Amino acid sequence: MRQLLEYDVRGVNIKLYKDLKVYPPSTATLLIAEYLENLEDRYILDLGTGSGFLAILASKLGARKVIATDISPRALERARENARLNRVENVEFRLGDLYDPVKGESFDLIICNPPMTPSKTPVPRYTWGGIDGRAILDRVIKGAPKYLNKNGRLMISVISLAGISESARLMESVGLIPKVLDYCTHPFGKRLMKLIDYLKNLPNADYVFDGVGRPCWRLVVFEAVKI
Ligand SMILES: C[S@@+](CC[C@H](N)C(=O)[O-])C[C@H]1O[C@@H](n2cnc3c(N)ncnc32)[C@H](O)[C@@H]1O
Repeated sequence: MRQLLEYDVRGVNIKLYKDLKVYPPSTATLLIAEYLENLEDRYILDLGTGSGFLAILASKLGARKVIATDISPRALERARENARLNRVENVEFRLGDLYDPVKGESFDLIICNPPMTPSKTPVPRYTWGGIDGRAILDRVIKGAPKYLNKNGRLMISVISLAGISESARLMESVGLIPKVLDYCTHPFGKRLMKLIDYLKNLPNADYVFDGVGRPCWRLVVFEAVKI
């Protein structure tokens, strides 16, 4: 019997097959999920879908159609299974690097929770954001205007270890109008604790200490509109 993970978000119940090699919904995923609104009849792109959680939720919240992409065949296989498990039929899964599988198309909403952990050497692929955490993040933001309809929105999570204000500035520089939908702080896990000396010397990386002295990264969910 396969193990299931179960979530209740925005009044929707979602079940996922557990797979240790596929990114499970995290703080960032769930914070994005809370702000998925106005999806009725919308054409949506979920970039780097992982387990398929946000794509499945978008479908259940009324999207007309969702395209979900990932570079990992294993993630896509699991996401397809998860869509079937949740009886969702209007999500199309496509394998490939970021916008490659949707060339020539444009969307009302792009959702993305990019891999952003800064590290010199690869941490698990689904969280590695290159040496400064921005390898995928920058490409998602720079590419978004080309793949958004007029008044289309990019909803994206950004962690302070990769640079929050740099991300807002980049959105503005490509013609998007960003606003912060929500934010939270989260204590470093074991993997980040091992990286702390490296993070100290990264110009964009920023973290705070909580009341008991634990280092914490901050997470912001942006909505950036194409006007
Ligand atoms: C942080 S996980 C987020 C997964 C899911 N969206 C969520 O929030 O639960 C990032 C996902 O992006 C995928 N990914 C990494 N690099 C990618 C790329 N160049 N193109 C498409 N997907 C990529 C990873 O395989 C992983 O599933």
